[in-house]
Amino acid sequence: MSKIPLPYTPKVLEIFRNPKNLGKIEDYSVVAEAGSPACGDVIRIYLKVGKVNEEDVIMAASFESYGCAANIASASILTELVKRMPLKEAWKIGWKRISDELGGLPSIKYHCSILAVGALKRAIRKYYENKERPDWLPKEETLEERQALELEKLLEKLYRRL
Ligand code: FES
Repeated sequence: MSKIPLPYTPKVLEIFRNPKNLGKIEDYSVVAEAGSPACGDVIRIYLKVGKVNEEDVIMAASFESYGCAANIASASILTELVKRMPLKEAWKIGWKRISDELGGLPSIKYHCSILAVGALKRAIRKYYENKERPDWLPKEETLEERQALELEKLLEKLYRRL
């Protein structure tokens, strides 16, 4: 039986072949993960945060991914986008923006960018865990954080059935 190739955009394929910011930042400030280690779709985001004009700014960002081409491309473009960005701005990035930056993802691959953004949001929350929470960071989980959580539960369930 032959497989039908997924309709990835040339940009996804190009970034997948030449991802940027791959690997761990040695002196990172925070690291967070999203995905399910049970099924193998896991992404880890590293951020190095510094102060610029009293603002918390992402000085460097990198990732490790055990996901698919779409996940790697999402993480690569996400870590490029957030470099030199205040955490406050990075917090606003949603998975749809990532998909758009990639020229669109096939719908069955939306979850790959949801995981990438979920890991970024976790990293930002974690950064403020033992600090005063800034006004722009909501106390409650946002829709995108919940989506990542639901996705993780779903991945675990699917994996258990295999
Ligand atoms: Fe699960 Fe892409 S990360 S298929």
